[in-house]
Amino acid sequence: MSYEKLEMLYEGKAKQVYSTADPNLIIIYYKDDATAFNAVKRGTIEDKGSLNNEITALIYEYLMAQGIETHFVKKLNDREQLCKKVSIVPLEVVTRNILAGSTARILGVEEGTQPPNIIYELCYKKDALGDPLINEHHAVALGAATYDEIKYIFSVTEKINTLLKDLFIKEDIILVDFKIEFGKDSTGKIILADEITPDTCRLWDKHTLKKLDKDRFRRDLGDVREAYVEILQRLKKTN
Ligand code: TMP
Ligand code: ASP
Repeated sequence: MSYEKLEMLYEGKAKQVYSTADPNLIIIYYKDDATAFNAVKRGTIEDKGSLNNEITALIYEYLMAQGIETHFVKKLNDREQLCKKVSIVPLEVVTRNILAGSTARILGVEEGTQPPNIIYELCYKKDALGDPLINEHHAVALGAATYDEIKYIFSVTEKINTLLKDLFIKEDIILVDFKIEFGKDSTGKIILADEITPDTCRLWDKHTLKKLDKDRFRRDLGDVREAYVEILQRLKKTN
């Protein structure tokens, strides 16, 4: 069966979401647009859409083969993938294996500091507020999720972190931190949704500590496209 985009349901900073003839399936189209700091900084990264579509597809196929339930159905073409329609839980779940970015800044520690524990964070998905860092009590108060749902989300996130760290380290990449999102499918089940790409992960070369992710765009480090290509090439070696 071939799937075609019908109506655009939503346009985000990096992707568009379209309905299909099947009410339970959507098509996600990956754009080249890049933003940072809540869209204060804007640009494009040549081929980012096709690179991220392929990177996400590889990562999701790996996670699903390891038993993680996700929205992903299949990659359709260069820029598009078919996914289950979910209602997104308005929480960004951030996992930190090494301190960097906003946490290094907030805690006043040097980027690259290895904490003794893994840090899990929640941010409330609300652009108007700049996706603020919240805790689980805020999330429940906001109606974003129940305590049980948050417990489940953190337990799946912990498994995903272990699987992703394993996947990347095989290719000499350190998974410093990453952000994931979850959605509820038509039966109400919470499953992994959205992308997992160098836009949403910090990925450092194990030997040189070179940043191979969107920090190259955020911090004007140059060679942004090259970093995404490097991640895709290394992932293709293991998959
Ligand atoms: P942070 O250090 O800026 O809080 O970012 C933590 C991780 O989350 C990092 O891997 C990048 C990712 N991230 C997103 O995917 N979307 C965002 O809007 C932000 C701010 C970070
Ligand atoms: N999603 C962020 C933005 O709002 C970008 C980032 O990843 O820092 O523009």
